[in-house]
Amino acid sequence: LLFLDKMYSAKVLEHLENPRNVGAMSDATARGEATNPVCGDLLRLYIKVTDGKIAEASFKVQGCPPSVAAGSALTEMITGLTVDEARKLAPQDVTRALESLPRNKEHCSVLAIDALRAALADQS
Ligand code: FES
Repeated sequence: LLFLDKMYSAKVLEHLENPRNVGAMSDATARGEATNPVCGDLLRLYIKVTDGKIAEASFKVQGCPPSVAAGSALTEMITGLTVDEARKLAPQDVTRALESLPRNKEHCSVLAIDALRAALADQS
């Protein structure tokens, strides 16, 4: 992570060192996948919804460091939210949770939200 600390916020680095909720979820009630055709990154989100609330979330990613941080932040952010609340989240919310992203990495938050929207569509 030595050279990364010049590029990324403290929060991004913290998620990279200790990513939350990594891995597939065997008892997920919905899954969503998103890819960015330009960079080729892929993020898969798993959620478990009980009584209209996201009780658990996890993710897998093949991508750049900020996409790992975005997936990690997203799973933290949506855990405990109702499905309706989660639907209102936007890429800027993920970027804000990461303090900031370099301009050319802002689409990593879009990737996370696209995966969320796909999972919520799978749920309903
Ligand atoms: Fe494309 Fe991170 S560089 S999602």
